[in-house]
Amino acid sequence: MKTYKIACIPGDGIGKEVVPAGQAALEALATAGGSFAFDFKNFGWGGDWYRAHGEMMPPHGLDELRGMDAILFGSAGDPHIPDHITLWGLRLKICQGFDQYANVRPTRILPGIDGPLKRCKPEDLNWIIVRENSEGEYAGVGGRAHQGQPIEVATDLSVMTRAGVERIMRYAFKLAQSRPRKLLTVVTKSNAQRHAMVMWDEIAREVSHEFPDVTWDKELVDACTARMVMRPATLDTVVATNLHADILSDLAAALAGSLGIAPTANIDPERRYPSMFEPIHGSAFDIMGQGLANPVGTFWSCVMLLEHLGEQAAARALMAAIERVTANTTLHTRDLGGNATTVQVTQAVCAQFLPVPA
Ligand code: IPM
Ligand code: MG
Repeated sequence: MKTYKIACIPGDGIGKEVVPAGQAALEALATAGGSFAFDFKNFGWGGDWYRAHGEMMPPHGLDELRGMDAILFGSAGDPHIPDHITLWGLRLKICQGFDQYANVRPTRILPGIDGPLKRCKPEDLNWIIVRENSEGEYAGVGGRAHQGQPIEVATDLSVMTRAGVERIMRYAFKLAQSRPRKLLTVVTKSNAQRHAMVMWDEIAREVSHEFPDVTWDKELVDACTARMVMRPATLDTVVATNLHADILSDLAAALAGSLGIAPTANIDPERRYPSMFEPIHGSAFDIMGQGLANPVGTFWSCVMLLEHLGEQAAARALMAAIERVTANTTLHTRDLGGNATTVQVTQAVCAQFLPVPA
């Protein structure tokens, strides 16, 4: 029997509540299915680790993760530590260190969930956003000089490489090709950003020739926000830069009803390193420790984890369980307008796989 080694990094805030929930769902699936097992290893990295050690993770932390089959991540963010430290010290360190260059964010309106768009039927909103996850606006290139002086200067340089753009375009076209509509929208801002984004557009066109059966179009990022709201059904697969997709994916999650249900995969498509799966919501300190966090974003991330491991049947079973649970509005957490707790939702999902006790 195959045993998958899974690193669990709950991180901060509600990450500590939703990661154990995800673990419980995976465990329940494995127990019920009987064809594979999980060996979970927990890592207490994040804000607490920072307070104790002055860093978000140990210097050789990546080496501890290297041999894992996948990483389940909660969130990084602490009200007492600057956000750029929590982000760069843990999550981006893993994404960039393991070259997880494809960030994949599916969005759908799940059964039982009422999205904010009046005229949008559930079947009108079925998107998958591919976010370039290794460079662009998050390249970390820039600096500050003359700090505290009137002439202080600060720069954040967006860096795009041909190799980096080609690989994300190829990933996005391939993903679009695998979906029924074979439709890709390339998000850009080449009207204003006349160097890197123009290259981005050119490379999209070049790569498109490898995928003659994929229909694709180009959309400026500002126009894309309006299109998501006004004409959601015209979109299917979307590819965008690191920052553009960061923003569009929050909008997408909100249009699907809640940030609490949205999943993410940080993928190394070449499988040189473990890929990392996480809910899109943050650490949500305002509700931490109260059992109110919605675990659905983490469960859906676990579906993506299972797909990545090649456990397609288990992935389908977990997604079906999630949908049966969201369809029952008494099992909605507060972000969805209900009053169910993290534990109740988790038990309801797990109960789908376990034999009913006599
Ligand atoms: C996301 C988040 C992060 C990002 C934050 C926590 C820095 O918003 O995963 O979308 O911008 O990448
Ligand atoms: Mg974001």
